[in-house]
Amino acid sequence: MNAMAPIPSLIPENAPFSAEQRAWLNGFFAAYLGVNGEPEAADAASPESDEPDEDQPWHDPSLAMAERLALAKDRKPQRQLMAATAQLDCGQCGYLCQTYAEAVWTGAEPDMGRCVPGGKETQRKLKELMAALDSERGETVAAPAVKSASQLGTRDRPALATLVDAYPLNRPGSEKDVRHVVFDLSTTDLTYEAGDSLGVFARKNPQLVQSVLDRVGATGEEIVAFDGEALPLRQVLLSKVDIARPSDDCLLFLATRAFDGEEALKLQALAEGGGPPDLAEADLLDLLLAFPSVMPSLPGLLKSLDRLQPRLYSIASSSKAHPREVHLTVSAVRWDSNDRQRTGIGSCYLADFAKPGDVVPVFVQKSRGFAPPADDDLPAIMIGPGTGVAPFRAFLEEREARGAKGPNWLFFGEQKRATDFLYEDQIVDWQRRGVLKKLDLAFSRDQSEKIYVQHRMRENAAELWAWLDKGAHFYVCGDAKRMAKDVEDTLLEIAAEQGGKGTAAKAWLDGLAKAGRYQRDVY
Ligand SMILES: Cc1cc2nc3c(=O)[nH]c(=O)nc-3n(C[C@H](O)[C@H](O)[C@H](O)COP(=O)(O)OP(=O)(O)OC[C@H]3O[C@@H](n4cnc5c(N)ncnc54)[C@H](O)[C@@H]3O)c2cc1C
Ligand SMILES: NC(=O)c1ccc[n+]([C@@H]2O[C@H](COP(=O)([O-])OP(=O)(O)OC[C@H]3O[C@@H](n4cnc5c(N)ncnc54)[C@H](OP(=O)(O)O)[C@@H]3O)[C@@H](O)[C@H]2O)c1
Repeated sequence: MNAMAPIPSLIPENAPFSAEQRAWLNGFFAAYLGVNGEPEAADAASPESDEPDEDQPWHDPSLAMAERLALAKDRKPQRQLMAATAQLDCGQCGYLCQTYAEAVWTGAEPDMGRCVPGGKETQRKLKELMAALDSERGETVAAPAVKSASQLGTRDRPALATLVDAYPLNRPGSEKDVRHVVFDLSTTDLTYEAGDSLGVFARKNPQLVQSVLDRVGATGEEIVAFDGEALPLRQVLLSKVDIARPSDDCLLFLATRAFDGEEALKLQALAEGGGPPDLAEADLLDLLLAFPSVMPSLPGLLKSLDRLQPRLYSIASSSKAHPREVHLTVSAVRWDSNDRQRTGIGSCYLADFAKPGDVVPVFVQKSRGFAPPADDDLPAIMIGPGTGVAPFRAFLEEREARGAKGPNWLFFGEQKRATDFLYEDQIVDWQRRGVLKKLDLAFSRDQSEKIYVQHRMRENAAELWAWLDKGAHFYVCGDAKRMAKDVEDTLLEIAAEQGGKGTAAKAWLDGLAKAGRYQRDVY
């Protein structure tokens, strides 16, 4: 998500200022009036920085963990903890990166495994830092927060939507399997805006769960106590706990249940980040098969596993075009390991295991300023390779439904035009009818050298700058680690060269972000 917090547009978009002047004035008046432009993320306490203008150089999802920690090294413990999270501010954990770290620090949030994009690396580092920083905690330790009953349709109390379809968007022969997923919301009170994301509570591969049950000698019908409820074991393994990435606590628990000493030592080593390299990414079944002497008790095993976290997907529809439906663009994550095909929990649940008519727990994660321009006359430039196109389908549907006059420009990229031009018919039709004034395509594998969206930006540098000069909003969605960074570097180059910003290009871009005109939804 946007690492740079947007502040509200206080200067009307049609006031007689250049884009740059307006950005500066917006920043000036926001500071003068004490306006905080960061709307609270759903379910999240708003970030409380002790230093109002505190810079957070580690808050960049393209940096590696070691780089982030080095940048936060001399800061207070909460910030060091923050640097260990994935820096996406995606809200998947129910907080923002900063507020999650603060809640972990005070003890209000005991679960250190909530950062899905950060995975085990983040969880381990949080635990390590908490242990190392413990002496500094002193009196700050708070009791775990008692959550008040939340509204239906939130992360804590998801609503039940009905899956309508999950059909392939790629043609046969593609290396990708991206699905157009449609949910019916008519049995829920959920509402959403273009730019929001949908949180999905998935269920795991039923075959994987069956294999775990077989290995521990259970039928799945056993009723077990879980979070104050009495539930069948199969249901807990399918939808409540994470058996794909067994926690370090689980590894240690399994070690205590190994009858073979060598197996116990290997499990212990795995829990400390060492052990057999081929088991570093093992799921629970891998471990139970690799260590046959382990005989776990069911209550102990369930207690040691992390809770399954929801997965977020950018919403790909406008509710104006599809009342009572929500659409997603989901890339199925599959890979092979130890002769077994592995399936991403959220993506393959939607692509493979959920069936039309199934009810699925979901919630809407409100965006933090990622939305089409409020002023329908303003231009929009959208950079959305791969599944990054999802929110821009929503933006275009929304702008068309609103009759927005501002021109739209989409940059889309994928591997091959013949098989991977997602939403080709709809996009080409938008172009034909003028909803899309400009369309630039970058198919990376249709020729020997790679062509990416940023190459198309460079080819169109003068026109791109002209759009920005007319007040265009600039949006990026998709891969955070490489694409979003390369696109930003290209935008800076264009500002330096075409806009004559030179070395002030970075300050110009910061101003654009502060004015809410540079927004990212990256993951
Ligand atoms: C704000 C936001 C918006 C998003 N929008 C979208 C969207 O519109 N569309 C979309 O498709 N996704 C989107 N995502 C990503 C999505 O939330 C999930 O992360 C994605 O679907 C993968 O989750 P999963 O549960 O299927 O996989 P998981 O079960 O989480 O598995 C993924 C993990 O598997 C492992 N893995 C994957 N491939 C391999 C391999 N080849 N070898 C070894 N290990 C491997 C990695 O450890 C990886 O982290 C978004 C994320 C965020 C935060
Ligand atoms: N955590 C997960 O398991 C998970 C699962 C799914 C997606 N994701 C994230 O979501 C992102 C989107 O995935 P996706 O399948 O929709 O598309 P993608 O992998 O981003 O690919 C879309 C297009 O972008 C190109 N591309 C690669 N590197 C680029 C760069 N540096 N700059 C610009 N374009 C670049 C690709 O080209 P080439 O491939 O030909 O180089 C391809 O043509 C992934 O990259 C990943 O970060 C994560």
